[in-house]
This record gives sequence, C-alpha cells and structure tokens, in this order.
Amino acid sequence: MPHPDNDASINPSRNESIREIIDRVDPSRRRFMKGSLGAGMLAAFGGFSLDAFVGVARAAPAPAGGIGFGSIPPSLAPAMFDGVKVPAGYTPRILSSWGDPIGHLSGAPQLDPNVAQAEADQLKQDGMNHDGIHFFPFPAAGAGGVSNERGLLVTNHEYTDEGILHHELSPGTTPQTLARVRVSQAAHGISVKEVRKVAGAWTVVRPSPLARRISSNTPMMISGPAAGHPLMKTSHTDENGNAAGDANGTRVLGTVNNCAHGHTPWGTYLTCEENWNGNFGTTLAFTADANERRYGVSAAGFGYRWHEADPRWDVRKNPNEPNRFGWVVEIDPWNPNSMPMKRTALGRFKHEGAWVVVGADNSVAVYLGDDERNEYIYKFVCSNKYNPANRAANRNLLDSGTLYVAKLNSDMTGRWIALVWNQNGLTPANGFADQGEVVIKARMAGDRVGATMMDRPEWIAVHPVTREAYITLTNNNRRGSNPASANAADGSTAAASARPAVDAANPRPINDYGHILRWRETGGNVSATTFEWDIFVECGDRLDPDPNHKGNIMGDDLGAPDGLWFDKDGRLWIQTDQTGDGLGPWANIGSNTMSCADPSTREVRRFLTSPPNCEVTGVVTTPDGRAMFVNIQHPGEDWSGGFTQKSTWPDNGNNGPTTLSTSPVIKPRASTVVITRDDGGVIGAA
Ligand code: FEO
Ligand code: CA
Ligand code: CA
Repeated sequence: MPHPDNDASINPSRNESIREIIDRVDPSRRRFMKGSLGAGMLAAFGGFSLDAFVGVARAAPAPAGGIGFGSIPPSLAPAMFDGVKVPAGYTPRILSSWGDPIGHLSGAPQLDPNVAQAEADQLKQDGMNHDGIHFFPFPAAGAGGVSNERGLLVTNHEYTDEGILHHELSPGTTPQTLARVRVSQAAHGISVKEVRKVAGAWTVVRPSPLARRISSNTPMMISGPAAGHPLMKTSHTDENGNAAGDANGTRVLGTVNNCAHGHTPWGTYLTCEENWNGNFGTTLAFTADANERRYGVSAAGFGYRWHEADPRWDVRKNPNEPNRFGWVVEIDPWNPNSMPMKRTALGRFKHEGAWVVVGADNSVAVYLGDDERNEYIYKFVCSNKYNPANRAANRNLLDSGTLYVAKLNSDMTGRWIALVWNQNGLTPANGFADQGEVVIKARMAGDRVGATMMDRPEWIAVHPVTREAYITLTNNNRRGSNPASANAADGSTAAASARPAVDAANPRPINDYGHILRWRETGGNVSATTFEWDIFVECGDRLDPDPNHKGNIMGDDLGAPDGLWFDKDGRLWIQTDQTGDGLGPWANIGSNTMSCADPSTREVRRFLTSPPNCEVTGVVTTPDGRAMFVNIQHPGEDWSGGFTQKSTWPDNGNNGPTTLSTSPVIKPRASTVVITRDDGGVIGAA
C-alpha cells in the first residue's frame, strides 16, 4: 500500500546541511568541487556572488529565479488519475496528439478511431509516441531577436503501438500486409509543425508551408566516414521484385525509433535512432553474426513484422540494411524540401539523443548516449568551429571530427578515448578495416578500448552557463548480478547480456531506480580529453525497506529517470520512464512524473504527474520560459500478458475510463501538452 507520507517534500532546511549530506553520502564528492568556475562566468549567471559558492554549489549554481512552485502529490494506483496534473497556478492544455493534422498544405483528416488508419492520412498527421522535442523560434523584432509566440515545434515519434495503430486487439495474429506496414512506417519519424500563440492560446497553424512529416520512407543522404562503405551498400529487391538497392551506400529511406534529439546553434534538429534493431526481422533461417549480435538484431525483432511484407527490413534478404540505421540524423526544419542527413561520424549505436555544446572559442562537441544495459557514453568533437555569422558554413560541421568514448575511473576522474582507426587497437587485425568500419561498429570499438559500461545512458543535459553535463542512467537489472561478466574486448558480447560488477559510477546492484551522473570537462573546454565526474543523485523510494532501493533524493522520490533538460535559468527538469501502472516497486511513486531539481542543493520537487502506463519524455520552453511543451508518450500501454489499454487520455477530457472504450472507440493518444502559468510567469520560477 502507498505510504501516507509519500507526497511529503523534504525541506532541506529541516535536515542536515547540504555539505553534511554530501559528505555522508559521498565524501569523495568534495574532490569534484575543487576545480570551479571562473568568477566571470559566475557573475554572468543571475548575479551570483562567488562567496555564495561552497562545496558542490561552486560547480552548480542555483537557478536564476529559483524554484517557485509547491510540489504536487504522486498519482497512485489503483485509482490513478488518467490525465496530467501540475501545480496550482499552472494550466496544461493539449496542443497536438497522434492523428491530429500537422497543417500540411494539402490538408488531412482528423484520425478516426473507428476505422483502420491509412498511410496517406498518417503522413500528414502527428505520428505516434512523441519523444524528443524542440522549439525553433521565428525571428522577431526586439530584444533577443526571436519570437516567444511563434515557432516551429519539431517532435520525434519514436515507435508504434501496433494494436492501437491498426485498430486490432491482437496484431501479432493478424496476417501482415504491405498496407499495414506502410501505416506503421508513416507513424514513425518526425513532425515539423508551425505553432503560434493566438489570443492567449497555443495552436498548430493549419495550413503552414513549413509543416512536414518525415517517416521511415523519407529519402535521406548518408554522410561522413561510413558513406559509400561496402557495409552500407545494398542490392535487395522490393516487394514487387524490382531492384531497390543502393549500390553506392549513400542514400537510404527513412529513420526509425526516433527517441531523444538535439539541436544545433545553426538552427537544425538532430533526431536519434534508438531501438532500430527491433524493426528488422527475417522469415529465413537466421544465425546472428557478431555485428548483429552486438546490436541485438534478431529474426523476430520487436513484433513490427515489417519484414513479412517489405523485404527491405528482412535481414537475410537485405543484410546490410541494419548498418544504415543507428545514426544521428540532421534535419533543417526551416526548409521543408531539404534532405535529412545521416551523420555517420557520430557513430552507430542505439542513440538516445545528441546534445550539442559550444565552447567559449566556438569549438563544438556533441554528447551522445547509447541506451542499452552496459553501453557507453560518447562525445564527438567537430574538427572545425561554429561560425555564428554564416549559417551555411556550419552545414556539414558534423561530418568531420573525432568520436570519443568515456572511461570513468574510480577516483572520479575520466578520460575520453578516441575511436580513431589505427589508434587504440582499432586496427585491421582487430576487425576495423577503416574509419567507416569503426563508426559502423562503434559499440565494438568501445569494447576494444575498454570504455566504461553504464546503467543505460539516456538523456544528457548541459548547464546553460557552466557547461556541466548531466546524464540520466535509467536502470540496469544486470548490474551486480551473477555470474559477473563484461563486454568482451573482441566485440563478441550479445547486446545487454553482460553482468558487470558495481563500480564507482554505477554503484548499485540490480539498479531498478537509476541515477543521474554529471561531469565537468577539464578547464571547461568542451574538446578536453579528460574530465571529473560525480553522482548527482541516486533515485529511489525512501519508503522501500530495501536499502538498495532508497536512493538519496532530497525531496520527491522518483525512479527510472530518462528525459533531462536545463531551462534557460538553470533549473534541471527530470522526466521518468518506469514501466507498469504504479504497483509493486512503484506503489509509493505512482505514475511517471516530471520533477524540477535545483542543481546547487539537489532538492527535487514533483511538477507533473501523468496518465497510467505512459512515459513523460520531451520538454522545451519558448525562449522566454513562459510556455513549456511536454510530451506524454504511450499512455495506457501495458504489455504484461499481451497488449492491453489502460488509458483513454487525452480524449477522456483529462480523466475518464482507463479501460479500452469501444462504444464509442476512444484510443489513448500520445500528445504534446503546453503548460502555462496563469499569471504569465516563467515556468518553474518563483
Ligand atoms: Fe527511447 Fe532510451 O528511450
Ligand atoms: Ca528515453
Ligand atoms: Ca527509457
């Protein structure tokens, strides 16, 4: 049963001092604090006095404007609220949901949940399962030069719930057709929508010449070291028996499993291919080779069954196609005719997101996480610098540079190890013929150089002033289990199969609740090859009797941290992706949440609770911070014992029946919610 005190927020002033807690929890943290920011940088941030910075606060300033809302209680089972709740004084409104027209010039119908979805309609509607999101403001006169009332909202649509999409309760037993596959492919990808504040309310502009859907069949270019590589060339035939290969290895159709994202200072969007292996399969005999094993490519995939009707996705009819997925894709949202580019210099893995940080000297680095148990954290440093005066000069910055993988030492130092061909053992003798093969087999390159196995790297957030990077490590149920094993240096380990021992950076066995770790580059230099790190928080449930589950959160408990984002003032927003419906280990935490943390004190306050069985993922604000866009993904999805539906949000009026409604049909729909303050203030601030 939920504990009645579960919603109590700890006031740090009634407890140990921050320094005492830090020393108790992690005495070595002091070491991390010593190297600190320059006085000039601190002075530039919210008028802080350098004297105010002691201990960890020296490296993590308090948010400008503070945190001004009172935390809300968790939404607990069994009567979990089937909607979004936020603190008093704030209002959430649905902006756009799966199946809503995106504003394409030629128009599109609204999703009709009573009939099977059609590809042509889906290609002009929001895709399924919104994830990463960014707001690109229009230029505007006045201070800042950008609009706070008009922009392009770019959203990832990560994957499909096939049963809900196809209006079938048992999609796994339905004969597969090409029409069904095409609908599913159309519901993946990215949407670009023009959004505008009109008479005080945010709406999607319909029509807009900038509205665009990018799907799993949108033509794209392959650039960087893997472009033209023999492992990228295909020669299969399509469903009609026509030649459909790419003999040059430079063009590919589409993108899948677009999870988190990034954006560049030159105004492009980065979409990241995460669980792409699950979209592949085969009807032919299958024994995985080392590459397929290391990336989890299998005969069955994750149940999409695309390969049954579309031979491009059959890994035995078209064995190199999986090498053409697992990349970061750069999209120019301002040009609806532009060709997306798969930037292979950033490596091929299960990309969670791609977070760009620009140094004081305009050096550019991209932080990258590979989200699977025991995978690695990467950094890409561009060869050339960002040119703020010439957008076109930055167009191909992401094609040239050095990819690194992180090694975290037990003394809280770390090293970025270059994944460069013929260095660090990345030689032909070890299976790397050239740099193209290094990036295509980036996981195996990381194995070879001894990268640190992490507890599922999800989002990375970079502080807007200090450039400290924070990363969510969402969970790892293999950590510390027996018999202990590590990813083999020869790249032969099957994805997620190792059982690494606990270490300083991943300190809990069977890490169900996850943690957030942060690092600071040596000298504040984004292209440094060394850094210091510490653990920001171990997530958990303080009411759980198991000490391994309690964590050390000061404030509101949470688990399975995933989305992570700094707003302009330095408030850290944490979103969660725990599975299930708030029962069992989640009985005290309830539904998934978004919380706000003060990086200087580590206090965490719950800001948003969500419908049952969803994931809260994706957050951004307008430049002034007065409108916040938050994505709610896969509401009501429950795969325990076959697919069932446990939500009817948002069409239930933000609370209604949580079981499948058939008369009328109400399907749960992933959505973007826009949150504003009733007094027009900055979201989260005092
Ligand atoms: Fe799609 Fe790792 O979350
Ligand atoms: Ca995620
Ligand atoms: Ca997740």
